[in-house]
Amino acid sequence: MDSRYKDGRRTTEAAVAGMIIALIFAGKHSSTIVSTWTRACLLTHTMFLDAVVEEQREIMRKYKDNIDYNVLSKMETLHSCIKEAGRMHPATLGLIHQTQKNITVRTKEGSEYGIPKGDTLVNLVMLTSKLSHIYKDPEVYDPYRFHPGREEDKVGGKFSYAIFGGGSHACPGEAYAFLQIKIIWSHLLRNFEIKLTSPFPKTDWSKFVLEPKGKVLVNYRRRRLESN
Ligand code: HEM
Repeated sequence: MDSRYKDGRRTTEAAVAGMIIALIFAGKHSSTIVSTWTRACLLTHTMFLDAVVEEQREIMRKYKDNIDYNVLSKMETLHSCIKEAGRMHPATLGLIHQTQKNITVRTKEGSEYGIPKGDTLVNLVMLTSKLSHIYKDPEVYDPYRFHPGREEDKVGGKFSYAIFGGGSHACPGEAYAFLQIKIIWSHLLRNFEIKLTSPFPKTDWSKFVLEPKGKVLVNYRRRRLESN
């Protein structure tokens, strides 16, 4: 509350309250939505569901029930499944930024566009994450597209995968979000057999963040995943 901006202005209560609301929103809502889309995608693509269950088994063989930072970093298949759910169903419709200097944008065909300082640029992530010259069969849920040898998220440069934004205002919570979602999924996969009992959800376009429309109903059955 006592901090000041570079030009000496005091921080206002409204600004602090706004930042706290933004952090709660950014830190909770987006992760919840990506977890839900991951669930819908995994439960309708049993090949990948089986792959993440098998990955948990292998990890349990080595690390037993322990789940810490090191163990979570071994969950590469689960990581890709979450990342792919985020690509197909980005939580954010688009990124909106104001240019700080005159810039030139070059298209892949070689045309150039000058964009003056102060203009507003919008990256419609829901479209750019489905470009077919970057992502092969973009409408297909295929987590292996990120794996070594393919790495489609790097085909168009460092902003190809912009689900968490990019540049100086990129999401600072990305790594933490993956940890959160992987912890949730590790617990679910190890302790429940899960089935989707409602149809694959449609996107609710009326919301600020692109959550599934209506209820995503799931049937849980307790189980104890054995490592052998
Ligand atoms: C899967 C979960 C998440 C997604 C999809 C997500 C996505 C995004 C996106 C698209 C932006 C805007 C980037 C831009 O404007 O270029 C952003 C910004 C931000 N996110 Fe996240 N986020 C997630 C989780 C989190 C978490 C867990 C936290 C904090 C614990 C967090 C904190 C923030 C903050 C503080 C910003 C503003 C950064 C700035 O303007 O400099 N996010 N996030």
